[in-house]
Amino acid sequence: MEAAKKLYVKSFGCQMNVYDAQRMADTLAPEGYVETASAEDADLVILNTCHIREKAAEKVYSELGRVRRMRDAAAAAGRRVTIAVAGCVAQAEGEEIIRRAPAVDLVVGPQSYHRLPDLLARAARDGKAVDTEFPIDDKFNHLAAPERAAIRSRGVSAFVTVQEGCDKFCTFCVVPYTRGAEISRPVDKIIAEVARLADAGVREVSLLGQNVNAYHGEGPDGHPWSLARLLERVAKLSGIDRLRYTTSHPRDMADDLVAAHRDLPQLMPQLHLPVQSGSDRVLAAMNRRHSRADYIAVVDRLRAARPDLALTSDFIVGFPGESEAEFGDTLRLVDDVGFSGAFSFKYSPRPGTPGAEMDDQICDAVKSERLQRLQEAIDRNQAAFNRRCLGRTVDVLFERAGRHPGQLVGRSPYLQPVQVMAPSSSLGQIAAVVVTEVSSNSLFGVLAQKSDHQPTQPPALLGAGA
Ligand code: 5AD
Ligand code: SF4
Repeated sequence: MEAAKKLYVKSFGCQMNVYDAQRMADTLAPEGYVETASAEDADLVILNTCHIREKAAEKVYSELGRVRRMRDAAAAAGRRVTIAVAGCVAQAEGEEIIRRAPAVDLVVGPQSYHRLPDLLARAARDGKAVDTEFPIDDKFNHLAAPERAAIRSRGVSAFVTVQEGCDKFCTFCVVPYTRGAEISRPVDKIIAEVARLADAGVREVSLLGQNVNAYHGEGPDGHPWSLARLLERVAKLSGIDRLRYTTSHPRDMADDLVAAHRDLPQLMPQLHLPVQSGSDRVLAAMNRRHSRADYIAVVDRLRAARPDLALTSDFIVGFPGESEAEFGDTLRLVDDVGFSGAFSFKYSPRPGTPGAEMDDQICDAVKSERLQRLQEAIDRNQAAFNRRCLGRTVDVLFERAGRHPGQLVGRSPYLQPVQVMAPSSSLGQIAAVVVTEVSSNSLFGVLAQKSDHQPTQPPALLGAGA
């Protein structure tokens, strides 16, 4: 019998890449590939890349240097290793990657993953293969579904892409160029995928999209469904106790979605809602198409629906022309909203985006100094949010073993990591935990009296759905 070929996928960047990596592995499984945890013994190495900021692409090239050395060592031992570059750098750079890193055999953009088996055959035959088309044909119709064993090995919390691409064209962002125009998957396809996950033991699902709250996939009734309606439908699947969605744009926070935060018990009280800046002038220059007041109004609507909602965000410092006073507006917004956490980035000019062409690029020293001040404000907010959890009882979904023997790590409804001494039988279960200690990044607690408490199912969910 032919030995299985080993596949190693290393993902950079966002959660959509993590999801894509799984779908690539699923699609290569029928070709005889099994996943391995180490690059050293792999026959096929796929670097699943991110292009959102400069450092991300540079990391890929230095990683490629490492992979090439590994390939040379394998070749000396008579074993051939194939190197593929996938993801957004593949889409943006295309053949340039092979010019800069000739060891690469195959370059494949995010919309062509279903063609991986063909591309591998082409690379084996012709030496190289590049595919960065945006095919008319939807890749989701061709990507293989995961096997039960694969789902189980990936844990109790899973991602499902429901929407991909973006039509918003913020002036700093490459996503509309690398992921293409916005598309939404049909409801029935998503339901079938989540049902399969639930059947294999998944308890929490995060619906993914670059602009997930602009979701408008075709429903079983032939009409476009909103994200709120999709969430309601997914919540009806038995076994799915927790739902999340990411990433959202403030302009697409529709009333029915806000109401879902009040009405849908499975929808976790945490939302990632990037704002990027607290200055109206900078927001306009970024083409965000909302003001600071609009953002705060969205936050108010959300908190009216779900008062304990934990809000996280993304910020960019040093966008072209950002003055000290405008940066001050961003700092104030952090305190005004009271985020439970946030990511902050130095503006990185991306080739081909309008921001890169703007005058008044800000020097790195100023960006670094602002980043540090912003990070301090975010950390302060995060610590305050965590402190408010002290003494409370929160439901924790245990996902993996902790660093210390006997310890498990899970997530609170607010997405905080929670470390608890608990029996390994609690893995994959949701249990009530009393928070006894907090740090800036994590909660620590003890199991409440009942070790595996099941959340009560809601009496009846809203709406009829299909
Ligand atoms: N420079 C810095 N940060 C960026 N982001 C997107 N593009 C850039 C860029 N050119 C950040 C935004 C976005 C997050 C995913 O990455 O904050 O929300
Ligand atoms: Fe990029 Fe803006 Fe689209 Fe988000 S909404 S993916 S920041 S262009």
